[in-house]
Amino acid sequence: MIIYFSRTDKTKAAAQALHDITGLPLYPLESDITDAKGFLFAFKAIKAAFDPKGLSVRNMPDTLPEEIYLCAPVWAGEPAGPMKYFIANAKLERVRVHVLLTAATPSRQHIASVKKLMDKAGATLGEIFQIATTKQPPEAEILREHINDWLETVVHPKPE
Ligand SMILES: Cc1cc2nc3c(=O)[nH]c(=O)nc-3n(C[C@H](O)[C@H](O)[C@H](O)COP(=O)(O)O)c2cc1C
Repeated sequence: MIIYFSRTDKTKAAAQALHDITGLPLYPLESDITDAKGFLFAFKAIKAAFDPKGLSVRNMPDTLPEEIYLCAPVWAGEPAGPMKYFIANAKLERVRVHVLLTAATPSRQHIASVKKLMDKAGATLGEIFQIATTKQPPEAEILREHINDWLETVVHPKPE
């Protein structure tokens, strides 16, 4: 299962490429925060980074398999508010979670923030991957190549 949030379609393109390769079903998280524009949006996004509890997030899957992929943009150094909301509210204990972030400037700080969130949620953190984005959503073919390489590092544990 691939659960993603995307506001300007860059993460959506990455989630789509991951879907093309793996065939796993896609779940787009939806949030009212995407309705806000300009300064109001920036304000809400920063506020949500510190406190995602007040967000309204729709389309959260009811039950989760034992391994999932989360795809999100980075907002203010962390996964975007709606994804933070999902991580805090989904029951992730015993779920193995791989995380794909898109960011203007990938950084180690983003990885540290994901580790902290997963720890708090009691999830088993799998592999983290970051994709640098520019103004346009990245080319599908290039995304597929990068994500294919990343998936080589994702080791699926054998069932007990
Ligand atoms: C409110 C906001 C905050 C952001 N903060 C960061 C950041 O701290 N670090 C970074 O590298 N990129 C940051 N970005 C850039 C986005 O992570 C990047 O453009 C992302 O690929 C957008 O994904 P989307 O098109 O799926 O919404 C920010 C973007 C927004 C809108």
